[in-house]
Amino acid sequence: MERVLRDGFIFLSQNKTLNGLAKRYGLKFGAGRFVAGDSLEASKRAIQDLNAKGLCVTMDHLGEFISTVGEAEMMTQECIRAVEMIAEEKLDSQLSLKLTSLGLDISDELIRSNMERILTRAKEVGVFVTIDMEDEPRCEKTIQLFEELRQSFDNIGTVIQSYLYRSEDDIKRVGRFETNLRIVKGAYKEPATVAFPEKEDVDHNYIKLVKLQLSLGNYAAVATHDDAMIEQVIRYAKENGIGNDKFEFQMLYGIRVERQLELVKLGYKVRVYVPYGRDWYGYFMRRLAERPANVAFVLKGMVKG
Ligand code: FDA
Repeated sequence: MERVLRDGFIFLSQNKTLNGLAKRYGLKFGAGRFVAGDSLEASKRAIQDLNAKGLCVTMDHLGEFISTVGEAEMMTQECIRAVEMIAEEKLDSQLSLKLTSLGLDISDELIRSNMERILTRAKEVGVFVTIDMEDEPRCEKTIQLFEELRQSFDNIGTVIQSYLYRSEDDIKRVGRFETNLRIVKGAYKEPATVAFPEKEDVDHNYIKLVKLQLSLGNYAAVATHDDAMIEQVIRYAKENGIGNDKFEFQMLYGIRVERQLELVKLGYKVRVYVPYGRDWYGYFMRRLAERPANVAFVLKGMVKG
């Protein structure tokens, strides 16, 4: 049953008509639990609150399914405004972004040029940028662009998904850049030809990949809400003399808030992924897919209107 719901929400997350409608009507159906607000100003307040509690942030201007150069330009300008705000307001925050929102599917020249503009401004103001990983057909292009940009920019990292068979090779491949990698399980629906179908294998590979990244001497952002993963990473680090400055935990805004604070109290760095913007629909559907128990929030949101 859980798998049917998961597949259903992932299917819905890709529906462009519903995505368009959602943009027009603002945060609905309890999406405000997972999205900090629909403006840069709203995200600033959320980041300040988190920073005051000892949590670091990576902010993300939501956006997917863009298909025109004009939309990619608007998203690029928003990313530049976001890094400038981080610097001006002295927020403890990085920036996360999705290449498809900046023109990946339009042309190679466009995405390269938009990324260069964002990274140049981010470097000037001292902000680190992580390229989120999207669905598997875009993985190779994302890694290639990362490799290219990394030659000129040291303020850039990317994401590795433990459900993909290729990920171990990808960590070794980008390891030469001594790069900061966020390791996640993966949020898209992928076929068994490219991804482990069983959760047990995804979990097993998750730990293997974090250990690989750390054993290469590179920084790992352990992005999961799963205590089993968190505990194993803590144990591995202790047993191998790996300092707390070599890794951090990352969780999504609104998820396991108490656990985030507990980890801070234990002396670990915890970074919260703070999404904001009008394009909340696909992100929200993927959160429901991960945990159909959250559907209760949707139902409550519908009742409230
Ligand atoms: P998983 O879903 O396997 O659940 C394991 C356990 O964790 C649960 O049994 C429960 O105990 C606990 N748990 C999980 N969700 C919970 C909740 N909502 N409330 C309470 N407990 C919960 N994906 C991607 O493909 N590309 C990307 O770039 C990113 N980026 C990203 C950044 C950050 C900071 C995070 C945390 C995650 C991502 N993801 C992502 C999403 C990721 O791939 C994955 O879908 C989710 O993190 C869910 O997997 P988990 O490892 O959290 O636990």
